[in-house]
Amino acid sequence: MTQPGRSEGPGRIVLGVTGGIAAYKTAELARLLTKAGYDVVPIMTPWGARFLGPLTLEALTGHPVRVETPAHESSEGIGHISLIRSAELLLIAPLTANTMAKMVTGMADNFLTATYLAHRGKTLVCPAMNTGMLEHPATRRNLAQLAADGVAICMGEAGDLACGEVGAGRMAEPDIIMDAVRMHLTPDIPALVGRSVLVSAGPTREDLDPVRYLTNRSSGKMGFAVARALRNAGARVTLVHGPGNLKPPIDMEVVPVTSAAEMEAAILPRQAEMDLIVMAAAVADYRPQKAEHKLKKGHFDGTVILERTTDILASLGAAKRSGQVLAGFAAESEDLLSNARGKLERKNLDLIFANDISGEDLGFGGDHNRITALDARGHTIDLGTGTKDALAGQIVRLLAEKI
Ligand SMILES: Cc1cc2nc3c(=O)[nH]c(=O)nc-3n(C[C@H](O)[C@H](O)[C@H](O)COP(=O)(O)O)c2cc1C
Repeated sequence: MTQPGRSEGPGRIVLGVTGGIAAYKTAELARLLTKAGYDVVPIMTPWGARFLGPLTLEALTGHPVRVETPAHESSEGIGHISLIRSAELLLIAPLTANTMAKMVTGMADNFLTATYLAHRGKTLVCPAMNTGMLEHPATRRNLAQLAADGVAICMGEAGDLACGEVGAGRMAEPDIIMDAVRMHLTPDIPALVGRSVLVSAGPTREDLDPVRYLTNRSSGKMGFAVARALRNAGARVTLVHGPGNLKPPIDMEVVPVTSAAEMEAAILPRQAEMDLIVMAAAVADYRPQKAEHKLKKGHFDGTVILERTTDILASLGAAKRSGQVLAGFAAESEDLLSNARGKLERKNLDLIFANDISGEDLGFGGDHNRITALDARGHTIDLGTGTKDALAGQIVRLLAEKI
């Protein structure tokens, strides 16, 4: 049998599954974790194994699933202790009210609870239960105690529950849990810990009339990746983003805007409190004079008058205070480096990330970029071609050096 979970990767995660309906989502979570390179070792409570077939997790992770109680492991030695010592993270998804109560009181009556008690490293849990169970004083007490014990908690958004009710208690979606896993497993960068950082991302949308608008091809993926990487490094991030389809990342202030004017109004008043600002948004340079009523075929003469928007990056550069770091992006299809250097100098930036959009699947919309960083001291650093997430990690290390 191939061992998809045992590839060279970022490390080992012990994945605990308890007995709730949301266990069906854990199959997708195991797949995403394995795809990201983690070595995923599953443990199920006996109830967990009634909701999701152990064979599914076995096939997805390449590891046999442990569901036995401590009494059954005597012939193999103390399995839960040796297992958890080799793990970077104990992730429990879903976490039932029942297992949560056991964790809080220190019970160790099955392989998962015994593993938790033996664990000295990081634990991340994803509670899932009916709203009434979640809101019960006992569960609220237990959640608060788990947090006080140092356990990280990833809650889902309110929505439809399996019991037919609508409310809080859903397990977080697998991609959100992945985001939380990366956040908890990425080491802090000391220069960035606790720093206030603002990142802008995505396009802006400028109305032509009540039904039409002008926009650009920016997806926001690069800016979102930079915001996540800064958060993962320990910064306090505010993300101001234009319209798009990306899910808001967890654990940061997220400010959605539509037009360049709204983006300006969201960013400029926040400048003074920021240690670092990274402008990755593709802000419209021009906006049409908006027609009050829908432009009609018979009456419209085909002329659209465009007026300049505020140059937010130039305004930030002009008002930059000493010690504040300002970085921008330059997406160019020709004369990349000279255009980027000109923008860096004109707008008083400390760093600019020149973004080559001439290749297929590079730049706007795609998952990859080719980036060269230029700084105010005249240095040029080729970050190469890579996924936006991987490049964001490199960008954040360069930003940390400037702080
Ligand atoms: C159909 C069904 C769905 C359940 N869903 C949940 C749930 O979402 N969350 C929860 O905390 N308990 C839920 N329970 C109750 C748990 O399965 C029960 O408390 C069990 O003892 C949990 O065991 P464990 O924590 O060892 O996995 C459900 C029970 C049934 C029968």
